[in-house]
Amino acid sequence: MGGPVPRERGHQRVSITLCDSYGRRIEYLRISVTDRCNFRCLYCMPVAGLQWLPKSDILSYEEIAQIVRELAPLGLRRLRITGGEPTLRPELDLLIGMLSSIPGIEDISLSTNGVRLPELADSLKAAGLDRVNMSADSLRPDRIRSISRRNLDFDPIAAATAAENAGLSPIKINVVVMRGINDDEISDFARLTVDHQWHVRFIELMPVGDMRELTWEHIVPGGEILQQLEMVAPCEPALGPSRGNGPARYFRFSGARGMVGLITPMSHTYCDTCNRVRLTADGRLRTCLFGEDEVDLRTPLREGLPLEPFFRRALSTKPKEHHLLQMQIGGLRALSQVGG
Ligand code: 5AD
Ligand code: SF4
Repeated sequence: MGGPVPRERGHQRVSITLCDSYGRRIEYLRISVTDRCNFRCLYCMPVAGLQWLPKSDILSYEEIAQIVRELAPLGLRRLRITGGEPTLRPELDLLIGMLSSIPGIEDISLSTNGVRLPELADSLKAAGLDRVNMSADSLRPDRIRSISRRNLDFDPIAAATAAENAGLSPIKINVVVMRGINDDEISDFARLTVDHQWHVRFIELMPVGDMRELTWEHIVPGGEILQQLEMVAPCEPALGPSRGNGPARYFRFSGARGMVGLITPMSHTYCDTCNRVRLTADGRLRTCLFGEDEVDLRTPLREGLPLEPFFRRALSTKPKEHHLLQMQIGGLRALSQVGG
């Protein structure tokens, strides 16, 4: 395996920064590289899977890189590779390598369920990946199987350790808290932050996707999660990790190496500081995870047209905030389909 690819972190002059109609600057793009997944998490996908996109609809790595090349001069700085499960897409390191050499891109992270991290972490890091967010909803093998509804022998601690050993940093672990399903593991997850420089973030369950087996009663509000954390040990509010600050609020147990965090899309909206847009695997730009507004970039891209007018059209529709609390379960697309 070669050494790290030198990264051009050139400071480009930003001429006409991309802003939405509420003045939020768009500097963060989440890129879904596949809608498929090797898990079937209770809160995300039906066991039978979804209607997968045909291959010809999915953007090639070159097409994804072209979109990023056109967005970078408009102020895009940070990228996250998502899915589905992005590591299912072959040779993901090639895409990371292409993206990391685009001037202006300062940070590339990966959202993954971690299953393939032990085998891929080194090559992804070498290609220019900076960090990972790993999903882990249980530390118990039987529960991992029942939540992900897959018979995979998967050890989240080994996966996070592989990422850490590869030099990916910071390591964030996302736990979707579900009442009666994994809320008794909050303290086990929280204690991981004492000895490891990992940041464990607890996420309020959101009523999106296929949640036939879940109800509103499974949602544990952030305030309750915090009470449970305070029972583990006293914790103080903390500044989050310096890279990739998103909507989490952080706390640290005294003397702990890592932090715990809360992501509370249900009890607090953080839409007013939202700086992100999403690219679906089939090339549509979505300006809000929960809205249905999207602009097709694939057609103009394949016709060789400049994309900036399409970016601007998409941003003009970015909504002010989401209305999840007013939704019925099941009314929205799974995050795996929109590049959660
Ligand atoms: N509620 C909360 N978080 C979700 N995710 C996916 N679906 C949901 C949901 N319904 C988040 C989780 C998961 C990642 C892929 O997206 O963090 O680990
Ligand atoms: Fe796959 Fe993530 Fe959805 Fe689970 S939540 S099924 S890991 S895409």
